[in-house]
Amino acid sequence: RPLLDPSPPLPALYVSFGFSIFAFLAALFLIPAVGPTFIKANLKGRDLLKVYSDPIPESQGLVCASIYILLLILFIPFPFSTAVASLASAGGKSDRGLPDGASASLHHELSVYLSSLLSLLIATMLGFLDDVFDIRWRHKVPIPLIASIPLLMVYYAEGGNTHVVIPLPLRGIFGVLVNLGPLYYLYMSLLSTFATNSINILAGINGSEVSQALIIALSVILNDLLYLPWPIDFRIPLHLLGNRAELEVGGTWHAGMAYGSSELVGRHLFSLYFMLPLVGVCLGFLYHNWYPARAFPGDTLCYVTGMAFSVVGIQAHFSKTLLLFFLPQIFNFVLSCPQLFGVVPCPRHRVPRFDPETNLLHPSKTLFIKPPSKLASLILHTFATFRLTELTIHPTTGNILEATNLTILNLFLLRLGSMNEKRLVQALICTQIAGSILAFVVRYGLAGLVYDG
Ligand code: UD1
Ligand code: MG
Repeated sequence: RPLLDPSPPLPALYVSFGFSIFAFLAALFLIPAVGPTFIKANLKGRDLLKVYSDPIPESQGLVCASIYILLLILFIPFPFSTAVASLASAGGKSDRGLPDGASASLHHELSVYLSSLLSLLIATMLGFLDDVFDIRWRHKVPIPLIASIPLLMVYYAEGGNTHVVIPLPLRGIFGVLVNLGPLYYLYMSLLSTFATNSINILAGINGSEVSQALIIALSVILNDLLYLPWPIDFRIPLHLLGNRAELEVGGTWHAGMAYGSSELVGRHLFSLYFMLPLVGVCLGFLYHNWYPARAFPGDTLCYVTGMAFSVVGIQAHFSKTLLLFFLPQIFNFVLSCPQLFGVVPCPRHRVPRFDPETNLLHPSKTLFIKPPSKLASLILHTFATFRLTELTIHPTTGNILEATNLTILNLFLLRLGSMNEKRLVQALICTQIAGSILAFVVRYGLAGLVYDG
């Protein structure tokens, strides 16, 4: 069952590329045009790391999400019209409707596409509500879980695989494949929650949110391109890589599925259709969000981009590879856990501290008003041993008085020294790119050591 028709010359892919240029231009022109309207509606924020306090339009991610989702809706006829045409001609019944089975397969493909749109819409709504009402953590965490149900049902309906391929050294104990069953669905819904929130907590300096999204989207696109049937011959080395696709957790695992199979190509085309316009809006928005920012993304942008990634990871069956593109976010999340789960106090903003005299950023600190719990002390001392945080200790009691906030941005400032905001966001971008390079090495280089393929 091909997800979308892969027959060359892939006209829908060209349309998608055109749409993403349009998305770029739309974001570029609309963001400054609607800014004053957002400020009037009180959707504004102060740039915390500047000397001036002019209001900056906030939740401009709503503009990006609107452009993105509307273009995805306008795009629907393109991949499906080529699919209809080829199915109809294959069955020889072009004027009397589709051949048997083709209509069911088309319905299936449509349901994949529409459930993805539904999840994106829920993410937009949640993000915007969060911008307006500042929803509390424990209230907003379960919502992406619910938003992932349409995706999971479609995955279930297509008989989505819940097997995991066991690495070579462990096969003696577990065998080649292990069926995770319902646990696999739990994993996928947690993936949506993680993807939507992890960018939001690595935020607060100009350009940080959208540049993370941009690099992840470009990495996904690069990965998708590896699976397309290219006419030129750099296919030969890729042939080896493509076969490993069957080892993807949750991929429909059957030995015959090789590089260039229409099912595999179709899935990666689907992913490209969702990622190309996302790159367009992100680039357009980055222009206005770059230091010094004239527009803020708000939670809306973080949630929509995160949901777009989990949608393609789940629907196109490469969630494990996708998680590899989130290495900086995973690190930042693990580092943040003590503050997120309330063991260590978490101030409203954990962004670095700004020194207006020198225009430099320094690590910000969380203060202990009452002595930390045993657990908090243990965690913070362990983190301090690994130089992940810096503690201020009471000289006589030995209690922790202050600790630098547990984020990757503060960690950069601790390890690399104080720097200005633009430098810090460049450091973040370099880390994200390095993470993606490492991800490709792990996925296509090292996977051969632990899996046969
Ligand atoms: C998350 C972080 C918080 C961080 C905040 C910054 C956690 C648990 N929460 O909270 O620590 O301080 O994001 O976005 O890690 N802002 C800037 N410059 C920017 C972007 C944002 O100064 O480039 C400020 C603006 O005042 C803006 C505000 O951050 O109004 C937006 O914060 P919001 O997205 O509502 O914070 P949270 O996502 O709740
Ligand atoms: Mg936010």
